[in-house]
Amino acid sequence: MTLYKVTSEIFTENKNSSVISENGNAVTKFVFKYPSYMIKPKHELNQNSNLIDSDNDLDIERQEEGTLLIEHRTSTELRHVGLQVWRGALLLADYILSNPGLFESKVVLELGAGVGLTSIVASFLAKEVICTDVDIEGILKLIHRNFTRNSVYVKSKISVKELNFFDLKWPTSYEKSVNVATIILAADVIYDENITEGFVQTLVKLLDSEIPKVAYITLEKRFVFTTANMDTTAPMYEDFLKCFETHNLNWRIEYIKIDFPQYFKYDRVKYMILLKIENKQSKQRNLTDNNCK
Ligand SMILES: C[S@@+](CC[C@H](N)C(=O)[O-])C[C@H]1O[C@@H](n2cnc3c(N)ncnc32)[C@H](O)[C@@H]1O
Repeated sequence: MTLYKVTSEIFTENKNSSVISENGNAVTKFVFKYPSYMIKPKHELNQNSNLIDSDNDLDIERQEEGTLLIEHRTSTELRHVGLQVWRGALLLADYILSNPGLFESKVVLELGAGVGLTSIVASFLAKEVICTDVDIEGILKLIHRNFTRNSVYVKSKISVKELNFFDLKWPTSYEKSVNVATIILAADVIYDENITEGFVQTLVKLLDSEIPKVAYITLEKRFVFTTANMDTTAPMYEDFLKCFETHNLNWRIEYIKIDFPQYFKYDRVKYMILLKIENKQSKQRNLTDNNCK
């Protein structure tokens, strides 16, 4: 049987330079502009420095850049796509950097984190980041290596755990540890019908809480032409919306305009979506007999 490989647009866009590491993975430099709150005034960097730049201007807020070093694969089979970096991770990272007040001092849980880029950015601001994915092809160890590579930026407590959308019977201590998170992140986990279903079940479990929680979800509407419909549709996105209807979820859902500043280099294409989901009006419900099909 032929196993088809997929390659993230991030790698074909070629906006970030990469080298191949000893283990055959790429290590890509993701350069990002510092948001103003990350730039230290020059006099804080060096007490003796001159505050006047070469143009005789007061040089307080110099534009600066940071670089994340991210190890990843450049192409994989569909079941190992988490080993690549997808645009949704960068869109969500931009949103975090654009809205520091929403993430500062918070406990953040990322689902389907892939190689961990978004969690690493969340760790610039949060109190604690719990970075999760399925543990296949050494992905959790890869996330650890990426946190270590970027430790200079990591300000929060971090943990890397397995969280599989298809295994939601959690031991009590595990459940306690993930339920402290009030912010849930997920980038580009809506690309397969079954995974979408598992993802929605996971969100339902996490948001079914008396504590106010908010999830930020990025996805790309991937359009395909189907002969069944004789039309171009975005079936995974439509499935995701159908899941919400089926569960009759009493959540507040908001589409966030994706016109916030761009700190990372990637094509922010117009069919990317950022959803904010809040559980404010959550109520008890029985999920066991309620799937999306
Ligand atoms: C397209 S990748 C996105 C990775 C990363 N968030 C990004 O945007 O670069 C989809 C992610 O969903 C994860 N995933 C797939 N099946 C899963 C499951 N059953 N439980 C949890 N995560 C899953 C994959 O491992 C992968 O990390």
